[in-house]
Amino acid sequence: MFKIGERNPEFFLFSGKGGVGKTSCAAAKALDFSRKGKKTLIVSVDPAHSLSDSFGMKIGGEVKKLAKNLFAIEIDPARAMQEYKERFSSQIEQMDGLAKLGIGETFDLAGMTPGIDEIAAFDKFLHYMQNKEYDIIIFDTAPTGHALRFLSLPDVLDSWLGKMIKIKLRFSGMMSLAKKLLPFGKEDEEKAKNIGADELEKMKERIKMAKEILSDPEKTHYFMVLIPEAMSILESERSLKTLKEYQIPVETVIVNQIIPENSSCSFCMEKRSRQLERIKEIKDKFREFRVLQLNLFKEEVHGFRMLERVGDEIYSKN
Ligand SMILES: Nc1ncnc2c1ncn2[C@@H]1O[C@H](COP(=O)(O)OP(=O)(O)O)[C@@H](O)[C@H]1O
Ligand SMILES: [Mg+2]
Repeated sequence: MFKIGERNPEFFLFSGKGGVGKTSCAAAKALDFSRKGKKTLIVSVDPAHSLSDSFGMKIGGEVKKLAKNLFAIEIDPARAMQEYKERFSSQIEQMDGLAKLGIGETFDLAGMTPGIDEIAAFDKFLHYMQNKEYDIIIFDTAPTGHALRFLSLPDVLDSWLGKMIKIKLRFSGMMSLAKKLLPFGKEDEEKAKNIGADELEKMKERIKMAKEILSDPEKTHYFMVLIPEAMSILESERSLKTLKEYQIPVETVIVNQIIPENSSCSFCMEKRSRQLERIKEIKDKFREFRVLQLNLFKEEVHGFRMLERVGDEIYSKN
């Protein structure tokens, strides 16, 4: 099924609220795989370009080789949206055209279309899901809420597409009536027939494929990062519930920023004992997942050496 030289990648997705350590854990995972001889790509769609900070190297919007077997790209969501708009501009214009014809009122075009920025970002995600150049593709995802909205897009688009096709049918019915009444040119007639259904149909197929990959535990590994605090636990519980609804197989929970033992610091020890209580709670609540623990370091997780330390703590031992 695969051509010579093609790879069949596995995907690693990192999720969790902002600041918990997603980028650090994702970058450490990428480095760990590359060192084990796997050709690895790490993809970020964070406008803050945190991957560059994490690796301590300028990355940017084109795939960049950072080390042997290690590649990275930082997709600018604003640029992705611009590209998407350019590619789909005729469809978007035609939708406007439909609205002008008065059809928009009947079908509430604005109400049924997902936000174009969400589609653009999801489109990039789909693009990498089809890639066959790497053994491992790691997504350092956007914070939880956004990531979950990405995952709900196939359903939204599915129903949106269904409605679009219905509109197309009605519209072409109207066109044949109009043709009898008005002197339409051949060109206009062709244009009117093509309401973007072909491109959208293709996209729907890609999303279907991505959904299959995402719900396959052999191909997709979902990591949830959290900190040992009540709010973070609650948030993660909600996310895990939603992921379950979409049949995304969550594998691992990483508890980050655990205060290390230090008997000479009473503040640290008190904080730590509270955290240990929360970790007990996490192990109990998230019993079905593998729970990994990562201590808080004195230093920020910045550069290869620190990423290696993170990898040694949570991945090498497991
Ligand atoms: N275990 C840790 N020890 C020390 N600093 C950490 C640790 N995990 C994350 N950090 C630091 O916390 C900040 C946020 O981490 P980051 O991985 O960017 O989080 P996210 O991607 O979830 O927003 C960064 O400055 C990072 O260096
Ligand atoms: Mg991040």
